[in-house]
Amino acid sequence: MTQPATSTKTRVTALPGDGIGMEVFDATRRIFAAAQAPVEWELAEAGAAVFKKGIPSGAPRETLDSIAKNGLALKGPLETPVGFGEKSANVTLRKHFELYANIRPVRELPGIKTPFTGRGIDMVIVRENVEDVYAGIEHMQTPDVAQCLKLMTRPGCERIIRAAFGLALAENRKKVTCATKANIMKLTEGMMKRVFEQVGPDYPGITRDHIIIDNCAHQLVIAPEQFDVIVTSNMNGDIISDLAAGLVGGLGIAPSANLGDHVAIFEAVHGSAPNIAGKGLANPTALLSAGIMLLRHIGAFEAAATIEQALFITLAEGENLTGDLSPRGHGVGTDKFVGQVIDNLGRTSNLPSRVYSPLTLTPWPDLTAHTEPTSRELIGVDIFIESDLSAAELGSSLTQIAEGSQLRLDSISNRGVQVWPATGGHTFLVDHFDCRFMLKAPAQGNPPQGIADLVKAIGSRHSWMHVEKLQRFDGKDAFERPQGES
Ligand code: NAI
Repeated sequence: MTQPATSTKTRVTALPGDGIGMEVFDATRRIFAAAQAPVEWELAEAGAAVFKKGIPSGAPRETLDSIAKNGLALKGPLETPVGFGEKSANVTLRKHFELYANIRPVRELPGIKTPFTGRGIDMVIVRENVEDVYAGIEHMQTPDVAQCLKLMTRPGCERIIRAAFGLALAENRKKVTCATKANIMKLTEGMMKRVFEQVGPDYPGITRDHIIIDNCAHQLVIAPEQFDVIVTSNMNGDIISDLAAGLVGGLGIAPSANLGDHVAIFEAVHGSAPNIAGKGLANPTALLSAGIMLLRHIGAFEAAATIEQALFITLAEGENLTGDLSPRGHGVGTDKFVGQVIDNLGRTSNLPSRVYSPLTLTPWPDLTAHTEPTSRELIGVDIFIESDLSAAELGSSLTQIAEGSQLRLDSISNRGVQVWPATGGHTFLVDHFDCRFMLKAPAQGNPPQGIADLVKAIGSRHSWMHVEKLQRFDGKDAFERPQGES
């Protein structure tokens, strides 16, 4: 419709995936072809069938090569069948291509009635997609105590925040809200807030504000129309993006993009819907909308708008909706829905497409990110000890061990609460004590031998799990204090 048939086509890897995947991909392919969207497909495999062939990542080499070569993929739902490999193929793709920006538009769609209809919800959630507790760095510290490392990095925060501002510019949006739990996790979540405050002034035309993530969840339900772009860390974003999708009709119609410096993968958020797979009942709206995002990503704005308008009209007129959307429960099959969208190509709805321009990510230099502070002091160590002693007994034992060494026992905490010296509070104890030793004289350069000697001496009487340096960078503490420590 919009592009001449002879125009150059962009090759895109198609991963139809499992269950209803091929049905919704075929629907998207038909609508794209009818709209003469400037895309050609290269089919590739991922998901259940691949796991069953014994490839534990769920994505074979040829698929990874195809995506790497094309730099673009449209992906349906991928199952992780029980008993065939433990990894999710979705996570494999995200990590393999460092797809750090997950973009989830949340917009009220015509004809889809929800308790929020008429509120004008139109926002985008920009979720950091590779760091945070989802890095999967977990250890059992004792048989009773599990630990998951929440790693957040300054470059990781900077690139997602710049992606959010870049997206606001590309979509002519006016406000970026950074949602964090910086009030509690001052170093990790606090880093995202600090970087947001540092980077924000580079985008003077865009209003910015910060909100605590729990209030963000509350505000999303109370007054969702106030949000324009929300940028947040991985786990926060995982939760609030599903919440936000629920405001406008649910996961079944939600698209998303996973962007990195070299590759972009667009996907439907829903799963493989095994209950309706193979019956011709699936709603292709989510994958089609992901395809529309892909078209905008490659600059095919006209084709994107044409397809989007045809979709909006089909939904608004409500005559040929799939069962999941049909208000009277008399849904049509995928085929009829697709036919209606195709018939509507070229019509314009009263819900305009936004004005878009290309989103450009700031490529990160391909080297190990490192910042050397002007000054770095080592002032102590936390030694984590597994013990069934009381806090008082452990305190007395460790004080004795440290006597005459370069360090003194400063405090002991249990699950983040100071238990030695006693504060008068009542703390339930587990066999996992964070024992803080301070150097009697701060050190610069290599850790003093006294630390290794102390760890060795403790190891002869107690069982330790790990040791954390307590440092000061540029005169500021690079660690947090336990609750109860003055
Ligand atoms: P699901 O999204 O497949 O299904 C939940 C409900 O929504 C079902 O009633 C289903 O019929 C309906 N539904 C979903 N998409 C629909 C569509 N396009 N049209 C009409 N109805 C639709 O979630 P479920 O059942 O939890 O997961 C099934 C499988 O999909 C699992 O193996 C899961 O791991 C996988 N999955 C994959 C995802 C991905 O690849 N991004 C995301 C979510 C689940």
